[in-house]
Amino acid sequence: MIPIVGGWTRTRCKPQSFVPRTQRHAQSPAVRPVGQPLLKITGLHKSFAGVKVLDGLDLELPEGQTTVVLGPSGCGKSVMLKHIVGLIRADAGEIWFANRRIDTLSERQMKDVRLRIALLFQMGALFDSMTVAENLAFPLLEHMQWSAQRRADEVAEALEMVDMAGTQNKLPAELSGGQRKRVALARAFILRPSVILYDEPTTGLDPIRAKGIDELVGRLKNRLGVTSLVVTHDLVSAKRIADRIVMINAGRVVAEGTYDELSRRKDGYIQRFFEAAGAGVLEPEDLT
Ligand SMILES: Nc1ncnc2c1ncn2[C@@H]1O[C@H](COP(=O)(O)OP(=O)(O)OP(=O)(O)O)[C@@H](O)[C@H]1O
Ligand SMILES: [Mg+2]
Repeated sequence: MIPIVGGWTRTRCKPQSFVPRTQRHAQSPAVRPVGQPLLKITGLHKSFAGVKVLDGLDLELPEGQTTVVLGPSGCGKSVMLKHIVGLIRADAGEIWFANRRIDTLSERQMKDVRLRIALLFQMGALFDSMTVAENLAFPLLEHMQWSAQRRADEVAEALEMVDMAGTQNKLPAELSGGQRKRVALARAFILRPSVILYDEPTTGLDPIRAKGIDELVGRLKNRLGVTSLVVTHDLVSAKRIADRIVMINAGRVVAEGTYDELSRRKDGYIQRFFEAAGAGVLEPEDLT
């Protein structure tokens, strides 16, 4: 298995649940009882060389909502995301997606899951030697037996969705950081996943471009019904996009609620976190 940037993996399999463009996103798992989360993590443990990173992490993603994960640097946020898409295997715990346990699946079975759960990596790079259109068409070539015209239409539609229409022939080096993030996002959803995992999508962007990315996260949720998990250090962004915030520290969940609920909490760690994050400081030592 060769994991590729921006939520893609090189596979030759075709999405089994593929439905026509106009009907996609209606494909949420219908058999799930109402009120059940689309994705659920229970008791996740992971150590690297004897150092504990995840320590009994529990997390639920309600379908069609945006869940934001906050936590200091090094607390295990990216490691958690990599577990969800099977790039890291847990020492203990379970991960369920659409009523199916996925942490025990084989690599071949995980390829199908990854078509429905896209991970936008923290550094979310594009292929530098490929044009924007080639970057976006890459997963389509891998997974869909479509005509060149159909691929071009899909690419144009995805670029329009991220306000990057007409940039097909540009190279990543010709784009700004914010534009590259938009294109990476377009590539992450071009196969119409049910879930998008964003690892710090606004890091390194100025406030205006960060707001633009937040608006895209909202647009994918509202127009396409995408369920999102957004890891961020950016409280402004969290306030804007979160239906629910989950705070992680030392590999486990320490609080959850709406932005307003958490920002009003007076208990030590959460209050310090909001103060430190508001001041742009988020190292673990600032929170102890
Ligand atoms: N493949 C790996 N092998 C060994 N250690 C790892 C591996 N991946 C992550 N770690 C360690 O796990 C810890 C958590 O890393 P992780 O990348 O999840 O942090 P994070 O919460 O995403 O931090 P940041 O906010 O800085 O991105 C770190 O100490 C990191 O060095
Ligand atoms: Mg990280």
